[in-house]
Amino acid sequence: MESKSVKETLLTRRSIRRFEREAITAEQLDLIYEAIRNTPTSYNGQQFTVIDIDDQELKEKLYEIIGQKQIKTCNRFMAFCIDYNRIRSFAKAEGVEMPGFCDTMDGVTVGIVDASLAMMSAVAAADSIGLGCCCIGYARTANPKAVAELLNLPDGVFVVCGLSLGVPREMPDMKPKMPASLLIHHNGYRQDDMLPELKAYDAEIRQYNATRSGATTDNDWLRHILSYYSEALGYKMLEAMRERGFDIRK
Ligand SMILES: Cc1cc2nc3c(=O)[nH]c(=O)nc-3n(C[C@H](O)[C@H](O)[C@H](O)COP(=O)(O)O)c2cc1C
Repeated sequence: MESKSVKETLLTRRSIRRFEREAITAEQLDLIYEAIRNTPTSYNGQQFTVIDIDDQELKEKLYEIIGQKQIKTCNRFMAFCIDYNRIRSFAKAEGVEMPGFCDTMDGVTVGIVDASLAMMSAVAAADSIGLGCCCIGYARTANPKAVAELLNLPDGVFVVCGLSLGVPREMPDMKPKMPASLLIHHNGYRQDDMLPELKAYDAEIRQYNATRSGATTDNDWLRHILSYYSEALGYKMLEAMRERGFDIRK
């Protein structure tokens, strides 16, 4: 199995949303699993679980709930979840009291960070061997209850993000990202005016959207992102997490 260098893997990655029918091989999948397993996690508590879905019928049911065509056309769809069920069950079996950590913002943050890093491990591993993937945030927001039921998620398990994986059928242009000067500040948060760089980036994105290969749009960056934020005001995540057994109090 050939693999790209770390540099090439990280610097040429882009989201892939169209996939060949070809399956991911057992060897490729094994690398992705091993990369997921070796993810750094808070306290080495491994507060995450991945549901790996290759059953076509199940993928189609998920597509009906979540939308996002790539869920049914990818070779496998992985749901990266925060998981406090596993340790809670173990503690119960051992007769050890489980602190209410998952009912705190920090407990939830820890699980979300662990699940997110595990997803990035999978993304990097997949990309390094020529596979493609796309994170699917709608797996968390579209209908948390229906997704949890379909995947048999117990209390204390909540989908943080989905990942569609497969052999790429497209190689879209890479999306321009902000310059390092905007994203990485030295020795404290920048105090000078970021507006000129932000405007330049907005213009770069508008130009990219108007000229990229595939579907073009006249979207800029700022207004497009803010429209996502507005849409997200309708999500009831606190309620959804409470239903999943995260009684967040502090
Ligand atoms: C947490 C997260 C959720 C995302 N959700 C979706 C999604 O639901 N659908 C989708 O098509 N892309 C989704 N994406 C992909 C982003 O749109 C993509 O990463 C971004 O536009 C940058 O493009 P690039 O990955 O090609 O660099 C998501 C990415 C992340 C990190």
